[in-house]
Amino acid sequence: MRRLRTQVGIVGAGPAGLTLAHLLHRAGIESVVLEDRTREYVEHRIRAGVLEHGTAELLRDAGVGERLDREGIVHHGISMQFDGERHRIPLSELTDGRAIVIYGQTEVVKDLIAVRLQLGLPLLFEVEGVTVRGFDEDAPVIAFRHEDEEHELSCDVIAGCDGFHGVCRPAIAAALRTFEREYPFAWLGILAEAPPSSEELVYTHHAHGFALLSLRSPHLSRLYLQCRPDEDLDEWPEKRIWKELQARTALEGWSLNTGPILEQGVTGMRSFVAEPMQRGRLFLAGDAAHIVPPTGAKGLNLAIADVAVLAHALDRWYRTGDESGLGSYSEICLRRVWRAEHFSYWMTTMLHRISDDPFDQKLQLSQLRWVTTSDAAARSLAENYVGLRIA
Ligand code: FAD
Ligand code: PHB
Repeated sequence: MRRLRTQVGIVGAGPAGLTLAHLLHRAGIESVVLEDRTREYVEHRIRAGVLEHGTAELLRDAGVGERLDREGIVHHGISMQFDGERHRIPLSELTDGRAIVIYGQTEVVKDLIAVRLQLGLPLLFEVEGVTVRGFDEDAPVIAFRHEDEEHELSCDVIAGCDGFHGVCRPAIAAALRTFEREYPFAWLGILAEAPPSSEELVYTHHAHGFALLSLRSPHLSRLYLQCRPDEDLDEWPEKRIWKELQARTALEGWSLNTGPILEQGVTGMRSFVAEPMQRGRLFLAGDAAHIVPPTGAKGLNLAIADVAVLAHALDRWYRTGDESGLGSYSEICLRRVWRAEHFSYWMTTMLHRISDDPFDQKLQLSQLRWVTTSDAAARSLAENYVGLRIA
């Protein structure tokens, strides 16, 4: 048995865990990051692509924005398509110049891993059998196996950044109240070697179901189609995917660029919040505490906002002994979380085919017309989409 000690033990090397470790390092606080997958796996897991204005700023301020500024693509608007028409929402005009940056989660993760390893700071991949204890007695311990050896990591605080299927939330389940909604549809997502067909993102409402045009670079398109949660990918040969994308996004005088599909997968849709996001000396952050359906592009951004609040509270605690920031961690985060939950739910129910009832469709079209014609409604969408300021 190897015994180790650090100030903050972090479970999970996704965006939340890695960003937290880096912010703590900048504040002179030691941490150890434990990840159960391989480095290769976490660096290539294709997920989010939209960074809110504040997320990009936070990464820049933390000294990890160099490649983001070089390769990230700044967007000042998005479009909503319905009834065969495409309407642009000028995000920046409506939010005092704020914008979003298209930069893959894979790239954020690669940048954070690279900086951590360059600095020679502890980040262990392929750990097994992680368990957490002692957080109620001010003596937190994370036990795990690494390279066939049992380890115990004693720390002041445990950060549960281990995603929705991790071990930290279940460890405090008895103290939590959870709120949940599942949706009867999912997204079939593809990454294609094709130049983006539209400069900006297009969210499409269509009788066949939702479609989204997004991108990763000037040569890579990221596209999504609403499908069934139990969709069998074998029933979706490339030809069918392109045909369906074309049908849902068709517009006069515009055409969809196609190309070889490099990756495809089905993502379920769920809203979920666990309250409070802390117990004793264990703090949950990111997907470990909450999930949003991806229509609002909020999941990654929420994860990073949580750890910004946590890093700030820990810094104050270590510097001054003032525990108040830690005490109010959950309350501060949950305000933003619930705003994002509502926004994501609203975008999801406005844009997807949610039933066969024409009444539902009429309400959706009315909302879409409203957000694309009323300045007040468009501003409200834009304000939520570019994101609230990080506390
Ligand atoms: P995760 O990224 O899940 O990281 C948790 C880490 O913990 C993982 O590396 C996992 O391997 C590790 N782990 C789990 N259990 C253990 C354990 N027991 N021990 C050690 N390590 C463990 N969000 C957006 O903001 N914008 C988008 O455009 C967007 N699009 C998305 C598209 C798709 C297809 C999907 C699936 C998600 C999307 N999201 C989006 C959501 C976003 O990807 C997540 O919210 C984000 O990954 C959350 O980061 P996290 O660090 O909290 O969790
Ligand atoms: C993506 O590019 O992966 C993406 C963009 C916007 C979303 C969700 C996903 O709302």
